[in-house]
Amino acid sequence: MYSLVINGGRPLRGEVQISGAKNAVLPILAATLLTPERCVLRRVPDLSDVNYMARILTELGAKVRVQGGTIAVAAERVRGVAGYDLVRKMRGSICVLGPLLARLREAQVSLPGGCVIGARPIDLHLKGLRGLGASITIEKGFVCAKARRLTGAELFLGGRSGPTVLGTANVLMAAVLAEGVTVIESAACEPEVVDLAHFLVAMGAKIEGVGSPTLRVTGVRELHGAEHEVIPDRIEAATFAVAAAATQGEVTLRGARPEHLTAVLDKLQEAGTRVRRVAGGLTVTGGRRPRPTDVTTQPYAGFPTDAQAQMMVLMTQAPGISILTERIYESRFMHVSELARLGADITLEGPSAVVKGATRLSGAPVMASDLRASAALVLAGLVAQGETRVRRIYHLDRGYERLDEKLAGLGAQVRRVAE
Ligand code: EPZ
Repeated sequence: MYSLVINGGRPLRGEVQISGAKNAVLPILAATLLTPERCVLRRVPDLSDVNYMARILTELGAKVRVQGGTIAVAAERVRGVAGYDLVRKMRGSICVLGPLLARLREAQVSLPGGCVIGARPIDLHLKGLRGLGASITIEKGFVCAKARRLTGAELFLGGRSGPTVLGTANVLMAAVLAEGVTVIESAACEPEVVDLAHFLVAMGAKIEGVGSPTLRVTGVRELHGAEHEVIPDRIEAATFAVAAAATQGEVTLRGARPEHLTAVLDKLQEAGTRVRRVAGGLTVTGGRRPRPTDVTTQPYAGFPTDAQAQMMVLMTQAPGISILTERIYESRFMHVSELARLGADITLEGPSAVVKGATRLSGAPVMASDLRASAALVLAGLVAQGETRVRRIYHLDRGYERLDEKLAGLGAQVRRVAE
């Protein structure tokens, strides 16, 4: 097991290359199961979640070749059973269900299980697939889905907290091979869903309304192989942007797409950060004293829940009160007690965190609990005076490509040590 040891108190300066988006590439890899032909994906980040997905595809019978940032998948023959040992490690693996059902008319995928950021049900995934004609039962921990044929339908996929990202992906991947027209209302509009839709269209799918809450899919008989370059990771970009702001540094994010980051950049500017578009990316300059801001997480194009924990670190540096309200996962506040170990003054009130700043954070050992909470602890370590040791960084390796190396490239004193 590894830890990151950070000596904080230094501004980040320089340029960083943003990697391909984890949450785009996971469903896109699942989509390669829809065709027996070869698909090639580029700008694929080297992450443990991506490696797990590649393993799942291999277990399902696909031939997977990874070379640098390129993955080639040929799923000439596939079997429809994805077992617990692989699926439990990563929730994203549930999105093999739609493609397997569409291709084989039968699939058994283990239920992915619990998650520290709160309840993460899949009822909307199942509702959508049932709407297309699948009969679905839960047996011995598996979702067992069957359909003599899938038929287009009008589906509403809105839930208590709004649309579902992977639910939309799963149902969309089944609908592209269903007979007739499917209309998905309250579809997720996240750029990762848009990227998946672009890949499906490149495979021969017919989808209208991409990027809007209404997707209209005209089913086709079969899909063919395709090549695709994955979008840059907006959450990785947001994490580096907040890091630049919180350390009062200046970082150029190469490859970042400002149009995917509007809500985050807007809040950073409100907090006194300067943001400039530059050729091929953007430059973020931290202000001398951040201003307090209130943030509410929402589905896209609102402020992303995946950048909530990181934003909280910046708020600890703003004199006054900032309120951060989490509307997607109500208990996604595991980082709060760890940030308190560094001296942060944060009180939880229902779905809101009340942050009192400015606090001079001081380094301490902390424990990472999930991916974005870990990122927040690293950011806090960069701000804090003295040494912060972030334990259990396997969470970080799931979703950030070479984070320690990238930070070191920006002048951070950070090293990976074996426990
Ligand atoms: C995706 O998860 C991301 N994961 C998450 O990223 C991200 O936090 C989340 O979208 C929200 O943006 C991947 O893409 C692999 P949802 P997903 O279904 O699709 C409720 C990270 O750190 N809901 O959009 O599983 C759910 O409980 C991760 O990279 C239902 O009620 O999230 C939540 O309140 C963590 N029923 C809301 O919808 C369902 O069937 C949104 O969840 C499904 C979801």
